[in-house]
Amino acid sequence: MSTVLEQIEQQIARLSTKAVKKNTGNIRTLADGVAKIDGLSAVMYNEMVQFPGGAIGIALNLEEDEVGCVILGDISKLKEGDEVQTTGRLLSVPVGKALLGRVVDALGNPVDGKGPIAAQETYPVERIAPGIIVRKSVSQPLFTGIMAIDSMIPIGRGQRELIIGDRGTGKTTIAIDTIINQAKINKVGLASGDKNFRPVYSIYVAVGQKNSNIVRTMAALEAAGAFEYTTIVAAPAADNPANQYLAPFSGAAMGEWFMENGMDALIVYDDLSKHAVAYRQISLILKRPSGREAYPGDVFYLHSRLLERSARLDGKGSLTALPLIETQAGDVSAYIPTNVISITDGQIFLETDLFNQGIRPAVSVGLSVSRVGSAAQIKATKQVGGKLKGELAQFRELAAFAQFGSDLDAKTKAQLDRGARIVELFKQPAFNPIPIEVQVAVLFAMQRGVFDSIEVKKIVPAAASLREFFTARKNPLLTEIRTKAALDKDIEAKLQAAVDEWKPTFNA
Ligand SMILES: Nc1ncnc2c1ncn2[C@@H]1O[C@H](COP(=O)(O)OP(=O)(O)O)[C@@H](O)[C@H]1O
Ligand SMILES: [Mg+2]
Repeated sequence: MSTVLEQIEQQIARLSTKAVKKNTGNIRTLADGVAKIDGLSAVMYNEMVQFPGGAIGIALNLEEDEVGCVILGDISKLKEGDEVQTTGRLLSVPVGKALLGRVVDALGNPVDGKGPIAAQETYPVERIAPGIIVRKSVSQPLFTGIMAIDSMIPIGRGQRELIIGDRGTGKTTIAIDTIINQAKINKVGLASGDKNFRPVYSIYVAVGQKNSNIVRTMAALEAAGAFEYTTIVAAPAADNPANQYLAPFSGAAMGEWFMENGMDALIVYDDLSKHAVAYRQISLILKRPSGREAYPGDVFYLHSRLLERSARLDGKGSLTALPLIETQAGDVSAYIPTNVISITDGQIFLETDLFNQGIRPAVSVGLSVSRVGSAAQIKATKQVGGKLKGELAQFRELAAFAQFGSDLDAKTKAQLDRGARIVELFKQPAFNPIPIEVQVAVLFAMQRGVFDSIEVKKIVPAAASLREFFTARKNPLLTEIRTKAALDKDIEAKLQAAVDEWKPTFNA
């Protein structure tokens, strides 16, 4: 008798009561990558749901009698009435160094034909941004390699700097240049054996672009040897809007991995205008009420929760963001541009007029600002370029009214002469970042008036010649500038001697 009881007791003890909560529903309507689903009463906001055939969706609209989901993946086999299941999980993407040198889609699946990605970890695509306490103020530079930016609108690690301008003003080029420059710095830094060197890894998120553009970007990175430090997250124009909506968040998760693991990363969102359009499209299909310019009311929240994830974390790493915004006819007061301007720590404003005049990169000095980066600028750049921004802004003002009269006093004329030369000095071809130490050398020459005796239209070749001279002949001096990051009397004397040595070699 007792053995029977014991056996029953054992059976009861072994009984597993772990209930698996599975909530199901059925597709009511299906259109444009969005499904309305009956049932799914227990689904959470932003939860992944499983469709038959492997497609997954994200629950975005939780209404009383239906749930609105965007669908990711192949939707061609889905039909109305199909069963849908909740998963209890938030959407996650693979993260880690295995993604470097790869092109992935919005879900982190490889699309470059180079085989599977051996990622060890996944991160959720939506994550609460770091709070105030864990953040540290920006104090380490992130060099773009573009002289006009590094000297006048410097960017620091953990900063969010908007690149804004019309189509074809060089926005993407600036972002790619910055990625290339990180790769160049990484190579020099890692080879130097300096234990304190912190490489910067890059993530380039392409949203709503033509495939041909993405291929061109990849080719430019590869040609510059920068692709091995970069992940491209591609949600091209032909992708459904759900993927385009998701891609920046997936990229942010990949960037966060570096930040959380004590490394530094850079993320480029190219561009958030198209991202907003994809989100508007989804919202309209979901029948959410539309607001200004037909965007849903929470498009501001969409971009702020994305950009707030960039930070510099105390004791960990950083994630620097370069969001891009395309304006129409230079109108920065439209809805999406004003939103993103207010969420970022400054903007680099590119002007079509300047671009067409051949002033490239077409950075507008007056309208561009970096609100936190100057704390991260190295002392050497401040020493040789501290006054440039003021001088250039003054030059533009003077030049505008100097057109009307030829009677200029000597002082105004000198200011105009100098301004015109600074403008020339900042011209820089695409995909050609200049190391910060070379920038310092060139700006030093400018400060000492070395270019004053050279004709304005010869400044571009003169500056190129000077850069080449330094790179080829003055490597130890350049290394000294880079490592000390400030100019003392001794370095200044060496710089002066080098510039004096160069001057006669340039036939103006
Ligand atoms: N600094 C530059 N010097 C010369 N050409 C440039 C420069 N920056 C951009 N371009 C050229 O201008 C065109 C538009 O640049 P792109 O970066 O694609 O603009 P956006 O992203 O603003 O549409 C490209 O053909 C690019 O090669
Ligand atoms: Mg572009």
